[in-house]
Amino acid sequence: MSRIPLIAGNWKMYKLSGEATDLVKALIPAANSVDYCEVAVCPPFTALSVISNLVKGTKISLGAQNCYPEKEGAFTGEISPAMLKDIGCKYTIVGHSERRKYFAETDAFINQKLFKLYEYNLLPILCVGETLEEREAGKMKEVVGSQIKKGLANVPEEKMQTTVIAYEPVWAIGTGKNATPEQAQEMHLFIRALLGEIYNATLAESIRIQYGGSVKPSNVKELMSQKDIDGALVGGASLKSDQFIPIIKFRD
Ligand code: PGA
Repeated sequence: MSRIPLIAGNWKMYKLSGEATDLVKALIPAANSVDYCEVAVCPPFTALSVISNLVKGTKISLGAQNCYPEKEGAFTGEISPAMLKDIGCKYTIVGHSERRKYFAETDAFINQKLFKLYEYNLLPILCVGETLEEREAGKMKEVVGSQIKKGLANVPEEKMQTTVIAYEPVWAIGTGKNATPEQAQEMHLFIRALLGEIYNATLAESIRIQYGGSVKPSNVKELMSQKDIDGALVGGASLKSDQFIPIIKFRD
């Protein structure tokens, strides 16, 4: 089964609305020119509205970086999946390692977010990945396996079909030190096999598994050439058009 790679920019807490506008305007022609991948940008909440209007009718999809797992309510400072849908989002990142680390997000909480996103037909990008300490202890499969099983607990097959997984080794995020294509492929294959066990082989073959962690123009081609790597979740290099455009055009 062929999987269309998803190249998504995670802008984190960067870009005022004017800066976001300039960046997206520069990305639109590049995204429109490629037919071998899908492109998405995940701006901060404050720029979603302006970017939503700009990407209408283009090949850029809109994503959010987080959500709170309720439709609405007295949750000061939070943003609901209903609001994200309303503003034009297609994707929402959940379980990013920065949220796990700085905001103490648990797998159970991340699982709740997935269910709320499904209710609003938003496609989750579920991030998993081990720390350097865990890798050095040889525990990466144990850790990632547990994040996958707990994060996806009780997710039915038809919802899993709409879910993207992002394997992001924590030691590679923002460090400039990417996983080698072989290290990444090994973990992607492990995740796909696990999805095969939880669901079935046909479903596992259809799921997109992105790699994230210091993806840049110089390493994207090699990473994307791996059999089980179906796109990239890009932080730092997605903030500059001269970096993100060659990543989008990784096959040109
Ligand atoms: P990075 O971030 O590309 O800056 O390493 C990736 C991510 O956090 O999604």
